[in-house]
Amino acid sequence: MNDIRNIVVLTGAGISAESGIDTFRDAGGLWEQHRVEDVATPEGFARDPELVQRFYDARREAVRTVTPNPAHEALARLDAGWEGHLLIVTQNVDDLHERAGAKRVLHMHGELLSALCAKCQARHAWSEPLIDRPACPGCGEQALRPDVVWFGEMPYEMDRIYAELRRADLFVSIGTSGAVYPAAGFVRDARELGARTLELNLERSEGSYWFHESRQGRAGELVPRWVDEILSIEG
Ligand code: OAD
Repeated sequence: MNDIRNIVVLTGAGISAESGIDTFRDAGGLWEQHRVEDVATPEGFARDPELVQRFYDARREAVRTVTPNPAHEALARLDAGWEGHLLIVTQNVDDLHERAGAKRVLHMHGELLSALCAKCQARHAWSEPLIDRPACPGCGEQALRPDVVWFGEMPYEMDRIYAELRRADLFVSIGTSGAVYPAAGFVRDARELGARTLELNLERSEGSYWFHESRQGRAGELVPRWVDEILSIEG
């Protein structure tokens, strides 16, 4: 472990579960309550924009009421203390990594607290509802949509993610089922590129086989313990 310098961490809905945000695929998760085709595809948005805006307005409102948990706080501690390269790639659209204090965070599936203009493609920090079709602060068109990557759309900053995976000595996946590509493929790519790979998840994920090591448990317990381990090798 002493030769670890560069780390890529991938997080998913499981890291925010203990803060009270529903995951997608667990029992009672978001995809049991809503049809993916209706609320997470460009076709669903074209069919019924009001339904989609209401869904994301409610999620944006809900994140205001929750707070980061010990797993987010531990990653913020890692970010502050780790001198090598570190990138926290999150599939989550909440802002709990940032609110815990992490800086080196990349939201590959977009952010609830951002709006994307379908006309001029500008992204704007946004905390209000979109249901009433406010004008884009850039071009003035009433064309703002949630800045969330839907199925069939390209995740953000894939080039930057792969640049970090190429130089990673360690790839750690936290609280994700491994069901959605391209994120689900990062473990295999990181491993083939030479990184050690570690999974921290409530249960074995779909891609568990690809990890050198898999630890099962709650993120709020596993992540602080792992961060203590990794920071102790630097000091
Ligand atoms: P999922 O809901 O698919 O998976 C959540 C994972 O977290 C599961 O493997 C759970 O076992 C695990 N989990 C639950 N509670 C946990 C806890 N307290 N501690 C640790 N692990 C826990 O969510 P994601 O993998 O993030 O995409 O889903 C990936 C993408 O699918 C999302 O970003 C979203 C969704 O469709 C888009 O919206 C584009």
